[in-house]
Amino acid sequence: MTSKATQTESVLKYQQLRVVIVGHVDHGKSTLIGRLLYDTDSLPAGKAEEIEKVSARRGAESIEWSFVLDAFQAERDQAVTIDTTQIWFSTALRDYVIIDAPGHREFLKNMVSGAAAADAAILVVDAAEGVQEQTRRHAYLLHLLGLRQVAVVINKMDSQGYDAERFNEVAKDVVAYLQSIGMTPQHIVPLSARHGDMMAGRGDHMDWYQGKTLVEILDSFEVAAPPVARALRFAVQDVYRQNKERIVVGRVETGILRKGDTLFFSPSGEKAGVKSIEVWPPQENKVEARAGEAIGITLDEKIFVERGHIASHEKNQPMLSNVLQANIFWLGQTPLAVGNSYKIRYATHEAMVTVQSIDRVIDTQDLAQDEDGAAVERNAVAEVTLRARHMLPIDPYIDYFRPGRPVLHDRTYILRGRRGELDS
Ligand code: GTP
Ligand code: MG
Repeated sequence: MTSKATQTESVLKYQQLRVVIVGHVDHGKSTLIGRLLYDTDSLPAGKAEEIEKVSARRGAESIEWSFVLDAFQAERDQAVTIDTTQIWFSTALRDYVIIDAPGHREFLKNMVSGAAAADAAILVVDAAEGVQEQTRRHAYLLHLLGLRQVAVVINKMDSQGYDAERFNEVAKDVVAYLQSIGMTPQHIVPLSARHGDMMAGRGDHMDWYQGKTLVEILDSFEVAAPPVARALRFAVQDVYRQNKERIVVGRVETGILRKGDTLFFSPSGEKAGVKSIEVWPPQENKVEARAGEAIGITLDEKIFVERGHIASHEKNQPMLSNVLQANIFWLGQTPLAVGNSYKIRYATHEAMVTVQSIDRVIDTQDLAQDEDGAAVERNAVAEVTLRARHMLPIDPYIDYFRPGRPVLHDRTYILRGRRGELDS
């Protein structure tokens, strides 16, 4: 028999925490990741020596840990991170996926898609430069995307002689900005990505800091539990015919779907019972499917079902509305304007919406608000009201994480935002 503690440990071991690294250009995100891999013994054999040689050859003053990431992507020539890169590493506790987001303004879109998939974030701030434009913007986006587990790293402490006063100064600025947007960082850690102080070990220079190291902070974050306890949402992906059966395929986004349940389909309003749950490889007597599972179901009645429909229980249905408020982050080349139409997509649902009004435009730098904006420029954050041609099944963002975070498309990918808390 295994003890309770060992069981918990082995469960944790299989959890994978997704962490996005964000921050202003050159503040040391890639260096931090390279060093993190080194300090947690996650680098392949010989890699550290190779990096040391390359660094020396290129005349770097010390080991350039950001070169580690070159193995994963072609950033050597440009020497900037051009796309998000995913890197795997593990601590004694569990496995991690690190998402390296670029700090350049032009690459905000990549940062947003990286952050949208993360459980936690590390905001890297250069101790010499302090809070900069992308520091503010990235922080605002983390907030907009609903990321609650955020650690702030005040990096390059070596360049400031590991000075506690400088740390306090920069930390105060960061906290002031974060609080102004309603965010509270769980941890603020002084660190040197180059030399490794406060990364896995504490180093010899910052005895004045009593908090956790970065690795201890990461290990203290929690993997989001699959939303099993929420009301059922089954997003229909497709309907297949197999022999004489019709199989409705999709993903259980939240809640639990059971054989024998009566399902209510939105927006059609039709109902049918679940005759069987089909999975691959086949499982006999599959009686329930939980949040996160991709399944097929057969129904006991021939109702009209198609891609985009959302199945729920009758008691706890999504709202139907053709008007929705959204907090958006606009990434389009051309401004979003009143009267323009866009395709909105969330879960498997797609629909055309028209911008009815732009209610607020927020400048992420100084948080100034423009109440009668006629257009939303690229990289701006706004509250807008959208009108759809047909009724859409919608849920508040807070309750239904994935389906609640819609994407608007122009011809190119345009927007990721969060829908307003419609019924709160
Ligand atoms: P982008 O991907 O372009 O946004 O940059 P980045 O944030 O990934 O920065 P990167 O890791 O490439 O580091 C930028 C520069 O800062 C490099 O020259 C690093 O050597 C230097 N640097 C990073 N961390 C430290 C540190 O802890 N101390 C010192 N002194 N320099 C550092
Ligand atoms: Mg980088």
